[in-house]
Amino acid sequence: MTTKTSSLLKLNNSKKLKLKAKRLIPAQTQTFSRSATTFVEGVYPVYVKSANGSHFTDVDGNIFLDYLMGLGPITLGYNYKKVNSAITNQLKDGILFSLPHPIEIDLTELLCKTIPNTDMVKFEKTGSNAVTGAVRAARAITKKNKIAYCGSGGVWHDWYAASISRNDGVPSFNKKLIKIFDYNDSDGLEQIFEDNKNEISSIVLEPSVYEIPNKTFLHKIRKIADKNNAVLILDEIVTGFRFDLGGGQKFFDIKGDLVCFGKGMGN
Ligand SMILES: Cc1ncc(COP(=O)(O)O)c(C=O)c1O
Repeated sequence: MTTKTSSLLKLNNSKKLKLKAKRLIPAQTQTFSRSATTFVEGVYPVYVKSANGSHFTDVDGNIFLDYLMGLGPITLGYNYKKVNSAITNQLKDGILFSLPHPIEIDLTELLCKTIPNTDMVKFEKTGSNAVTGAVRAARAITKKNKIAYCGSGGVWHDWYAASISRNDGVPSFNKKLIKIFDYNDSDGLEQIFEDNKNEISSIVLEPSVYEIPNKTFLHKIRKIADKNNAVLILDEIVTGFRFDLGGGQKFFDIKGDLVCFGKGMGN
């Protein structure tokens, strides 16, 4: 928070909007992590009005330094001029068409140049869609159903939500298909393959989750995937365009088979 201490914050407009939203929007938000229930009531702003660079202004005029960065995507900063003008220029030509647009090919070429080991690119709607699509492709390619998973988790993927308590609405058989291993624990991953012989379609891994890999971890993961004919899916939704423009693959020198990018692309 900036100049004012939280007890002096004026939050009248935020409070009014929150009451209104309570009637209209489940959990008052479209995104769980953005919900008012995630923050301390009465001292945390709830509604944002505008943002510029690294700061945002809430609906009561309070200004904050934004450590949340839009839940991750804001790496360039808000209101970034080059991106804004590219968007406004494109708006003049239209942004939704019945046919593909040449810009898809230009962007794909640029991504292939920027991200190591990239031959082709498929665009998806969200990070969740991209990782779930990669899992589906791995299952289709290998004709195996189980997944070995290591990451920060989250209920954004149904196939992951099956394994935790917030699993309402996810069929329970999904739980049997997901095997969790810890970051930097390649022995744990090997054990999963041992216990589920010829059943693991893919290893889904964030290149880094709150800690850096020990010297051999990522190299061993690659080897285990190759040895067991499993697809190595790197979830670079957070690390992509952040650890390096080329993502965790470039930064840590690891090669994924299917690599998913998200957040940073949205800025
Ligand atoms: C590592 C990781 N993968 C996937 C996702 C899902 O991305 P999206 O919110 O674009 O669906 C998130 C979201 O926070 C994430 O942190």
